[in-house]
Amino acid sequence: MSRTVYVNGAYLAEERAAVSVFDRGFLMADGVYEVTSVLGGRLIDFGGHMARLRRSLDALEIEAPVDDDELLAIHRELVARNAIEDGLVYLQVTRGNPGDRDFAYPAPGTTRPTLVLFTQDKPGLADNPAARTGWKVISIPDIRWGRRDIKTVQLLYPSMGKMMAKRAGADDAWMVEDGFVTEGTSNNAYIVRGGRIITRQLSPDILHGITRAAVLRFAREAQMEVEERPFSIEEAQGADEAFVTSASAFVMPVVEIDGVRLGDGAPGPVARRLREIYLEESRRAAL
Ligand code: PDD
Repeated sequence: MSRTVYVNGAYLAEERAAVSVFDRGFLMADGVYEVTSVLGGRLIDFGGHMARLRRSLDALEIEAPVDDDELLAIHRELVARNAIEDGLVYLQVTRGNPGDRDFAYPAPGTTRPTLVLFTQDKPGLADNPAARTGWKVISIPDIRWGRRDIKTVQLLYPSMGKMMAKRAGADDAWMVEDGFVTEGTSNNAYIVRGGRIITRQLSPDILHGITRAAVLRFAREAQMEVEERPFSIEEAQGADEAFVTSASAFVMPVVEIDGVRLGDGAPGPVARRLREIYLEESRRAAL
């Protein structure tokens, strides 16, 4: 069945939705995005995703196309029209269509940003069987640009990384810069040593994950120790556990890194517990 998607104020059948060939999102990857999960028909961590959207837009000097109340209304309308019980809402804002190709940004106020949203139906998203066996990851060099804290649609290298992982028989790739893990292709990376959760500190080197913020908050509330610092692949291979977080994977255990099994090769207790707490708490607070 055809989805209903949203483009610049209109709800359209997906076949009828279109964006200009001159859109700077298409020509220059000049756009930002958010992915918000839906569980039980409700939006998970909506406020966090919209706050990060603002930060991404501000960093690129793209005008916000509509306010947060309107964005919430659009998200809800799409979830309802597409009867999404469990799934994702993808939102993208680009600098829009200035009518031609030019490296310079269009003059302020002359070009309306493009706003596109669509849903992805993922029945049973929170019961992903992969969470019971855990992911295998490989390491690859991080050759992305220096502002990874802005959630831009420049996702070619993360896509290549995902393909490298698949071809190596793994589930994802952890990117490494100057000897330390930055993050996964589309998630934040963690290890656990002696019950302590270790994850890279926030900086422009990584995306400031909304799931990361929530998981670290819940971990601290549950009296778990958290250390925000870089770690290497070698340290991770010797850790008790590892996991990743994102809006689509929630908390996903990692059981193998570059062919080295962690512990007994099964998801560890800290990752399993954090997944449980995260799902429970965020369902409770869902909009
Ligand atoms: N990706 N790091 C990167 C590079 C990401 O692309 C993502 C999210 C994360 C986790 O952020 P959050 O917890 O806010 O989802 C970290 C989304 C899910 C995607 O591109 O589909």
